[in-house]
Amino acid sequence: MKDLSRDFSLYIHIPFCVSKCAYCDFLSFADRSCMAKYFVALCEEIKAKGKGVKAPVDHIYVGGGTPSLAYEYFPALKKAIDGSFTLRADAEISMECNPESVTPAFVAAAKAFGVNRVSLGVQTLSDPLLKTIGRAHDRKTALAALDLLTRNFSSVNADVMVGLPGQTKEDVTETLNVLTSYPINHISCYSLILEEGTPLFAAAERGEFAVDDDFAVDLYDLACEKLKKAGFCRYEISNFCKNGAVCGYNLSVWQYGEYLGLGLGASSFLRSKSLRLKNTKETSVYLSSNGSAGQTVEQVSKEEQVKEFVMLGLRLEEGMDLAVFKQIFGFDFLEKYAERVKKLEKTLVVTPSRIAIAPEYFYVSNTIIQELIF
Ligand SMILES: C[S@@+](CC[C@H](N)C(=O)[O-])C[C@H]1O[C@@H](n2cnc3c(N)ncnc32)[C@H](O)[C@@H]1O
Ligand code: SF4
Repeated sequence: MKDLSRDFSLYIHIPFCVSKCAYCDFLSFADRSCMAKYFVALCEEIKAKGKGVKAPVDHIYVGGGTPSLAYEYFPALKKAIDGSFTLRADAEISMECNPESVTPAFVAAAKAFGVNRVSLGVQTLSDPLLKTIGRAHDRKTALAALDLLTRNFSSVNADVMVGLPGQTKEDVTETLNVLTSYPINHISCYSLILEEGTPLFAAAERGEFAVDDDFAVDLYDLACEKLKKAGFCRYEISNFCKNGAVCGYNLSVWQYGEYLGLGLGASSFLRSKSLRLKNTKETSVYLSSNGSAGQTVEQVSKEEQVKEFVMLGLRLEEGMDLAVFKQIFGFDFLEKYAERVKKLEKTLVVTPSRIAIAPEYFYVSNTIIQELIF
């Protein structure tokens, strides 16, 4: 059973990018004029929020945005974290990076920071597609970055996307063939989501490219098949790894672990207090208050928590741990939901210790989860 005292993580948000990609609605921007001030505020926030926290940190995830752009600030960030939190000796420290800012200087700074897992946003190795989605890198830059990272880190992830405008089966196959020829141990494969307000969404609205959801599913299935052949096991809807090299931070979130979000717009989940906190998304408010103003605090009811636990746990191929469920909520899931589980039995894999969605029904997991607990 999961050791509930071993699941405390920090998420640190770095909201700066070289340019804004055409599909992205993450909290990130190309204006880097306030980067120095941002790190002063972030370090102050870390010091303030670390006060009184006794739990040792199991994972740190530095995400963005593009953390690799900000390598000059890593020493100050490390000092603030080390002075405010106790890290487990074997803590996973993951960092996102983008090809155009993966340089020897970044690698040296990341190593000095303690990074032991890097995640590279490749998306595709097709130059025309990279252009269409507004990435700041090309194929050559992505491969050079992959080469540098795999020579310096033993745990490397590559992000890829399927369902891009005009993307073919050959593009997906070629990208995955080349990526899996590098010594990487993790691939995240995301289906494009057209987010309202992004240039790609507007282009789709104008009919500049055809949106074909069925073909996007075919591309995802093709990616699953290619990755399986290359020795990568799927452990979550979009995540595949070799030799059990899961992303500890993400796994902890899916297993309902606690995390403290630091930085602009970062969210925290404090399970033991039933609280979800969200930092302000307003840069000026964040900077002027060192991240202390504009935070929203939400008390999460037990019913909501049950739903969240199930929704997160059933994203995992291994499903959710029934003993952990009982330990957190104090009742037996299979007893309480017996009728619904029976009704959905064809789509589920149920053992005395776990409940999971059968892999062949993963593509309708949202419907199954709805019928199970809503
Ligand atoms: C938080 S983003 C930041 C990582 C890094 N800045 C980058 O772009 O490579 C992490 C990943 O989410 C995926 N992503 C972002 N927007 C998406 C969208 N609209 N649809 C599908 N995947 C998306 C991309 O694969 C991206 O690498
Ligand atoms: S680099 Fe990453 S975070 Fe930045 S705009 Fe592109 S997808 Fe978004």
